[in-house]
Amino acid sequence: MIWPWRREGEGESAGTLRVPGARRDALTELVAALPDPVLLLDRNGIVTAANRRALDILDFDPSDHHISAAIRAPQLLDAVAHVLKANEAVRVDYEMHVPVRRHFEAFVSYISGEEAAAALILLRDLTREQQIERMRADFVAHASHELRTPLASLLGFIETLQGPARNDEPARQRFLDLMLAQAERMRRLIDDLLSLSRIEMNAHLRPQGTVDLGQVARHVRDTLAGLAREVDLDIVIGMNAPMPVKGDWDELVQVVQNLLENAIKYASSGKRVDIDGGGEGRFFELIVRDHGPGIAEEHIPRLTERFYRINVQESRSRGGTGLGLAIVKHILNRHRGRLIIRSELGKGSSFTVRVPAAEPELLGEAHR
Ligand SMILES: Nc1ncnc2c1ncn2[C@@H]1O[C@H](COP(=O)(O)OP(=O)(O)O)[C@@H](O)[C@H]1O
Ligand SMILES: [Mg+2]
Repeated sequence: MIWPWRREGEGESAGTLRVPGARRDALTELVAALPDPVLLLDRNGIVTAANRRALDILDFDPSDHHISAAIRAPQLLDAVAHVLKANEAVRVDYEMHVPVRRHFEAFVSYISGEEAAAALILLRDLTREQQIERMRADFVAHASHELRTPLASLLGFIETLQGPARNDEPARQRFLDLMLAQAERMRRLIDDLLSLSRIEMNAHLRPQGTVDLGQVARHVRDTLAGLAREVDLDIVIGMNAPMPVKGDWDELVQVVQNLLENAIKYASSGKRVDIDGGGEGRFFELIVRDHGPGIAEEHIPRLTERFYRINVQESRSRGGTGLGLAIVKHILNRHRGRLIIRSELGKGSSFTVRVPAAEPELLGEAHR
């Protein structure tokens, strides 16, 4: 039988259950086989068996110690006392603060007919679940706030147009232009949010197509040539050998487009953006390098967080949503690739996109 949650050499539970042979073996096996941390207690609250998961969490072998030596949470100890006295099952929440804060849910159940196994404690670590829940709530709050700002401004303009500016033709034109800009900002935000959720939904499905990264770069350069010209920025593509990767064309275009748009928005002072290729064998790399202001070190690890911007006003005024690099990261995760950001203040930044190469048998096809 395979126990996927057991590691090599695991399976033995700690403690020696003081019950007759066959029954002891069965109980010990049962405790060892459970994927959650489990402890067995005798009538007096002494730990008679604990599985490997429980030892990992407690960081010591509690066998033959009273449960209060293993877990110092009053809620849990009260529950154990109650279960041993009233022969009932109880669920309690408790927190441990050492070495790091963790939140557990404990199920304490009574087992009848066995002195050495009178109660069973099963623990569930809720810490990660709660972290995810908090992140989700933060995200919703953030997204709503970002949508509410342009909406409030639209409502303000509508009121003005219905009231004070009703017959003011020049003002009306000006307000309509501003309203259009706010509505477009909302649309960009919603498009980016939908994009993120679509990519997340497919995160477990690896793209199946074969895409040449060089072709993606040339396509995006052509798409953004007009924007680049407006800010007097040259886009220079340095590679021409094929770079076939396993990927989705539209998503990889979105990746390179985001990086190039950022260079146009935030690094046009560098006058030039270089796109180069690299890598061989197992993966290919596309490097987008600008010569703009660069990014201070403390921001770099946070750039791919949703809504993280170094300067919110600057990003907004350039039509940013703060979701571009988060989308890039998610697309690359789905491709089993990575984004590597390097930067030096005053010198510029480079964004390296690394994607696994297409299967060797497809390589020939992509070269043709
Ligand atoms: N090439 C770059 N040079 C300097 N700063 C950049 C560059 N690319 C991105 N940034 C910074 O990273 C932030 C996050 O980028 P992104 O997720 O694409 O959001 P957005 O472009 O919508 O603001 C930007 O707001 C900007 O502050
Ligand atoms: Mg961007």
